[in-house]
Amino acid sequence: MARDTSAFTRLSVLPVAGALGAEIRGLDLSKPLDDTAFAELRQAWLQYHVVFLRDQKMAPGNMEDVARRFGDLAITSYTNPVPGHKFVHMNVRPAEAPRGSRNYGDFWHIDQTTREIPTGGFLLYAQMIPPYGGDTGFANIGLAYDMLSPGMQALCDRLVCVHTPAGVYGDGSGSGGKRPFRLPGSDKAYTISDETLGQYLKKETLHPLVIEHPITGRKGIYYTPYANRFVDMTEAESKPILDYLAGHIVRPEFTCRLRWEVGSLAIIDNNAMQHFAYQDYHGHRREMLRCEFSGTVRPFGPAMPRPESRAAAE
Ligand SMILES: [Fe+2]
Repeated sequence: MARDTSAFTRLSVLPVAGALGAEIRGLDLSKPLDDTAFAELRQAWLQYHVVFLRDQKMAPGNMEDVARRFGDLAITSYTNPVPGHKFVHMNVRPAEAPRGSRNYGDFWHIDQTTREIPTGGFLLYAQMIPPYGGDTGFANIGLAYDMLSPGMQALCDRLVCVHTPAGVYGDGSGSGGKRPFRLPGSDKAYTISDETLGQYLKKETLHPLVIEHPITGRKGIYYTPYANRFVDMTEAESKPILDYLAGHIVRPEFTCRLRWEVGSLAIIDNNAMQHFAYQDYHGHRREMLRCEFSGTVRPFGPAMPRPESRAAAE
């Protein structure tokens, strides 16, 4: 990761860890950004993969305005939007949630890799936070790739993963060690019917294990628990390699961790990291607003070339 912050003139960039993550100071995102300020914000986002801004006063419309500068707005399936803002969703964990019940994102993952073109990135904004806990962790998949041995890099470069919701949810019931699709007490948050759910869980999407970032070209390990097996390999054969990578990517030196405050905003590059929503605030409510922007191209890398038509269009 480039550590040089001297190129920024309109904002201050303070790296928060050696692996990724930087706090940005000097911007008020409730007001329109001029092109120069946005260009520096985007550059910091590409350089540090996740950027944090404190003390922002963001209404849902402000989130849409900022996200739209990064890409076309996209709708997150399965949860209900904020009234009047179909691109902004609220992730809530109520204070009454039973101790030990799961969160939406309390596992290391990349968002929506079951789509052919997963989300390019997203904004998270803290509306209400618990007095302690509820941090979000981030892990740099590019640095994790760099730190593999040449032999392991060569192996990974050749592999294509089968991503399926079944890799995380199994048959959706929560049996077999998989998490249930509907978390206890959260059924009303889902907009998907049982019939659609059945089809969704069977869906399979192929992505290369090693991607090249669509903007920077940096290689990264595109592993997430949705990756159930490798093409032309069984689950049993794939599992030891996937398990190794799962542990490798989230080594502490490849991560950073954000402690939220009310008014904190994070802008996340979904092609550069895994993330994890810590669930360690039993008895307290947490409310986050989320707004995502589309990816521009199917993930590509050494094992799956960049699609010709889309590459030409960019
Ligand atoms: Fe997520």
